[in-house]
Amino acid sequence: MSDNRPGLLIVFEGTDGTGKSTQLKLLATVLVERGFSVVSTFEPSNGIYGTQIRELFTNRKKISPEEELDLFLADRKDHVDKLIAPSLKGGKIILCDRYYLSTIAYQGAAGLDPDHILARNDFAPVPDLALLFHAPLATGIQRITEGRGDTLNDFEKEDYLQKVATQFEQLQLPCIKRIDAERDIEAIHQDVLALVNPLLRSL
Ligand code: TYD
Repeated sequence: MSDNRPGLLIVFEGTDGTGKSTQLKLLATVLVERGFSVVSTFEPSNGIYGTQIRELFTNRKKISPEEELDLFLADRKDHVDKLIAPSLKGGKIILCDRYYLSTIAYQGAAGLDPDHILARNDFAPVPDLALLFHAPLATGIQRITEGRGDTLNDFEKEDYLQKVATQFEQLQLPCIKRIDAERDIEAIHQDVLALVNPLLRSL
């Protein structure tokens, strides 16, 4: 476990429409049934900066990539201080839908240096496990537009998402475990459990 802390931080990462949110919910249900204390959360958070970020979704060009990075970092600091750090200290299992790997991939795809982005995240607790869901872009886009009944927002435009996918593919961090997300939900869930189970022994 990282930092000798009592809890666990498991993050769910990948391009949009890879099914990571569904897998987070399935894992949360199993862990709660087994009696663990689970905190399910997400970024951008619903704090003040996260709310500002969501407003950006529809008119992205108004701010520069640097300003965008600053906002995601401000949101993360707020989220870490208010929820993630206290929950880790309290021995909880935190399941977070997106974290700093998303910042590296999305703001990296917007032109910023991935190593610089990682360095700017040095305040954020390192995940015990980062589940990185991979699926072909077309599958993700189809899931967004058909499954969710949505149109693509500015963060989801296809050429940009292709760059994001490339960033995710190139990411190499010790906490990362890659998951083939182009399979049925139950098969993916079993993979997630196999990766999470060994970590639970330390709780
Ligand atoms: P998300 O809430 O997963 O989207 P949705 O509600 O549509 O499922 O994330 C919102 C978008 O924010 C997503 O396209 C990725 C982007 N994002 C970044 O660009 N940088 C970040 O650091 C994070 C956490 C998200």
